[in-house]
Amino acid sequence: MTDSTPDTAPHASRRTFAIISHPDAGKTTLTEKLLLNGGAIHLAGEVKARGAARRARSDWMKIEQQRGISVTSSVMTFAREFEGLGHITFNLLDTPGHEDFSEDTYRTLTAVDSAIMVIDAAKGIEPQTRKLFEVCRMRNVPIITFVNKVDREGRPVYEILDEVADALALDVSPQSWPVGMGGIFEGILDLASGRISRPEGDSREFLGKVDYEPVPAEFAEEIELGQMGYPEFDLEAYRAGDLTPVFFGSALKNFGVAELIEAIARIAPPPRPQPSEQGTIDPGNKEVTGFIFKVQANMDPMHRDRIAFMRLVSGTFKRGMKLTPSALGKPIAVHSPILFFAQDREIADEAQPGDIIGIPNHGTLRVGDTLSETNKVRFTGLPNFAPEILRRVQLKDPTKTKQLRKALDDLSEEGVIQVFYPEIGSQWIVGVVGQLQLDVLISRLEAEYKVGAMLEPAPFDTARWVKGSDKAVADFAEFNSANLAKDRDGDPVFLARSAWDVSYQQERNPDLTFSATKER
Ligand code: G4P
Repeated sequence: MTDSTPDTAPHASRRTFAIISHPDAGKTTLTEKLLLNGGAIHLAGEVKARGAARRARSDWMKIEQQRGISVTSSVMTFAREFEGLGHITFNLLDTPGHEDFSEDTYRTLTAVDSAIMVIDAAKGIEPQTRKLFEVCRMRNVPIITFVNKVDREGRPVYEILDEVADALALDVSPQSWPVGMGGIFEGILDLASGRISRPEGDSREFLGKVDYEPVPAEFAEEIELGQMGYPEFDLEAYRAGDLTPVFFGSALKNFGVAELIEAIARIAPPPRPQPSEQGTIDPGNKEVTGFIFKVQANMDPMHRDRIAFMRLVSGTFKRGMKLTPSALGKPIAVHSPILFFAQDREIADEAQPGDIIGIPNHGTLRVGDTLSETNKVRFTGLPNFAPEILRRVQLKDPTKTKQLRKALDDLSEEGVIQVFYPEIGSQWIVGVVGQLQLDVLISRLEAEYKVGAMLEPAPFDTARWVKGSDKAVADFAEFNSANLAKDRDGDPVFLARSAWDVSYQQERNPDLTFSATKER
């Protein structure tokens, strides 16, 4: 790619990131404090309040309220000046924390350039953190670690650091060190400057004064000994995903958050080149390109619209410009794109690589679509995951077949479920990676499509996309039609009774691959 621009390009000031964590580690609290720090909102606590108000507007989202979890993810943009760096724009992509909804979360991680991993100081690495970390590793997404809740009694610092290093096979480089924790919490030592910042109680002004004092003698030796043995920070190793800088703090008490945001501004990567069938696409390329990583319906109950979330990969997007979605093949004019500022949705006039724009549409845009000016680029790497739960859909009113088909197509386009149409028989099968998605499905079928349905166990345990030459696939299909279905794109899927079934077929059919993910 030839027409790239130097680092003064507008996208060099973008930091597009997500927070990954196990539920309860403090992601919501940290998000609030980051937005507060970025000047996006004025009162902490508003993220939750606003979220609740927004959720209350939509029928199907009652599930969220009942369960007290967030099934939707959103985008928050805020900006701040940094000395020597200038204006930095942060795009924080929120990921649902509930473990049932990981597929959506995985896709969101395809649209970020880096991640913050929040760990509870008392609990260390928890299962969901590990899963999400693995997705980041697969894509070499660099990670800054934030060890939260140091205002409470936690585990010894070196124990947490070693756990991150061992559990995730990652070099850890502490950037700060809590001086005492819980009842004897004295503050946080910045290892680079050797100074300690002390909390002044809960009501400390966020960006207000911080006292720097030498470390109390009783902690000095422990800290000096403790940090020995950990590597120094190395920007290259961090950006390659081999090393994580570790910060300590308390989201609740606004402590260590300013240092964290400073680190994102200074070390987190600006928009990275993205893989495509045509080679990597550099953010400096002139052509406007992007990909859809999420589609969300009913954000505004007044309009039964959908918003497709596009990550801009290259070029300067301007309102009203024509882009061609890869699945559609003909251009659409993007007249009312939306930028997601924390206060409200705003109409975007211009966006840069790294930015996320929301494109209202009526179902034309699908997860995985590439949008571009020339329709020559196809981004890769947006995975569909093999469902872990398969169910047959049974209509309460059999005359509603058509509505059901439309609903299943729509909802699979949105990525809420995956749908499989068996070669034999008329009962459609839905696949999900978590139980919660099934509740969402039933609830939305009723609320939005007026279709009453029940889910029955399916005689299958998992599904694999079958890939190979046309002949090999056709041969396989001939002998296995009872276990064969098509996904919504018409691609062949093997419905397996067990994991054993998959390995058996793999052994018998060495020319085929049985893939647990499908990249679109
Ligand atoms: P999540 O989004 O990762 O699920 O976590 P969330 O921010 O909702 O935080 C989970 C709980 O941990 C909340 O308490 C929150 O107040 C608390 N918490 C977050 N950061 C810190 C911290 O730095 N120190 C301490 N001590 N607690 C922290 P909760 O009682 O479940 O909810 P709430 O009633 O306080 O909202």
